[in-house]
Amino acid sequence: MFEEIQFNAINRLPNYVFAEINELKMRARRAGEDIIDFSMGNPDGPTPPHIVEKLVETAKKPKNYGYSVSKGIYKLRLAITDWYERRYGVKLDPESEAVATMGSKEGYVHLIQAITNPGDVAIVPEPAYPIHTHAFIIAGGNVVKIPFSYNEKYELDYDKFFESLKNSIEDSMPRPKFVVVNFPHNPTTVTVKKDFYERLVAMAKKERFYILSDIAYADITFDGYKTPSIFEVEGAKEVAVESFTLSKSYNMAGWRVGFVVGNKKLIGALQKIKSWFDYGMFTPIQVAATVALNGPQDCVKEIIQTYKSRRDVLLKSFENAGWKIDKPSATMFVWAKIPENLRHLGSMEFSKQLLNEAKVAVSPGIGFGEHGDEYVRIALIENHNRIRQAARNIKQYLKKRS
Ligand SMILES: Cc1ncc(COP(=O)(O)O)c(C=O)c1O
Repeated sequence: MFEEIQFNAINRLPNYVFAEINELKMRARRAGEDIIDFSMGNPDGPTPPHIVEKLVETAKKPKNYGYSVSKGIYKLRLAITDWYERRYGVKLDPESEAVATMGSKEGYVHLIQAITNPGDVAIVPEPAYPIHTHAFIIAGGNVVKIPFSYNEKYELDYDKFFESLKNSIEDSMPRPKFVVVNFPHNPTTVTVKKDFYERLVAMAKKERFYILSDIAYADITFDGYKTPSIFEVEGAKEVAVESFTLSKSYNMAGWRVGFVVGNKKLIGALQKIKSWFDYGMFTPIQVAATVALNGPQDCVKEIIQTYKSRRDVLLKSFENAGWKIDKPSATMFVWAKIPENLRHLGSMEFSKQLLNEAKVAVSPGIGFGEHGDEYVRIALIENHNRIRQAARNIKQYLKKRS
């Protein structure tokens, strides 16, 4: 019925590639199998107690039950700008340069919806966190994907990156209006230093595009690496916004709290569209988020330590199983090149075999774009014993296939 009635935005979205692996995982679980699940970046740890306690305390006060403020209560926006100042020495205005969002994904999607005209072009490095590309597609824009290279320490090759960027700007009609960057990167874990942003901001000013920077994994770094912010570069506010989330640093994925800061014109657009779309997060969640950002940060250190030790156990036990993987210095993921003798399978078939034969679920790299097809993404969301069990299962599987 109603075949003539089309839903264009939804038709522009492909089916979710990870759905296939998810379905297989669910089927195996229903059949009673124990699947070790590294497939999703969903933190498994508890939210630190002082944050939960603040939520409970605030939720008991009836004055907090009404509509909240769509761009975030002032105290949360102040906590966000203070976080930037403490961490990066960057001054931001909580009124005009910050928005609290329902997780950073919501902020990103609505920002793109607010600032994209039909036919606008955005450049997104690929592989990519899927919404980085598809937010533009939903909004009626077009995406030019650029590949990027990195070394065995997952450090970006700047020269190649800027060459690809320059070429794609020159080749694109109309000229690109936006460039998306996300370092530390999901899924590849690739990192950059401040000098990367110096070059990017200079290029944005010359070529006239806005930069959308996502630093969701800013805290989750190891071995001395520290995530820079684009706003450490003088004048970056003229051309950039940056988003962050409490999901990863404070194990608050289900709470849905994040933020976007920076360029007044873009932040104003996001504040405006949010004032049409929503009435703000439940106030107690915003108060608890304020406490998370302003309060003691030992809990963040513990969360980082958990991911680091899981990374180390995983790399060692997988290597003993016959799968040597390079060591990432950030994020809650390992971006693992498929063992050479099995690379021809492609990431989807390899992931299916891992699931069926080793009882281990990972995300196939192809789900992040065609440049990811020689890799799988392993999320560090299982404990040491489960990681070691996965390694034993994988050892058997690799032996059979050798
Ligand atoms: C790079 C990146 N950005 C943003 C998000 C969204 O996080 P949230 O919406 O929970 O803030 C994620 C989640 O996995 C992510 O990996």
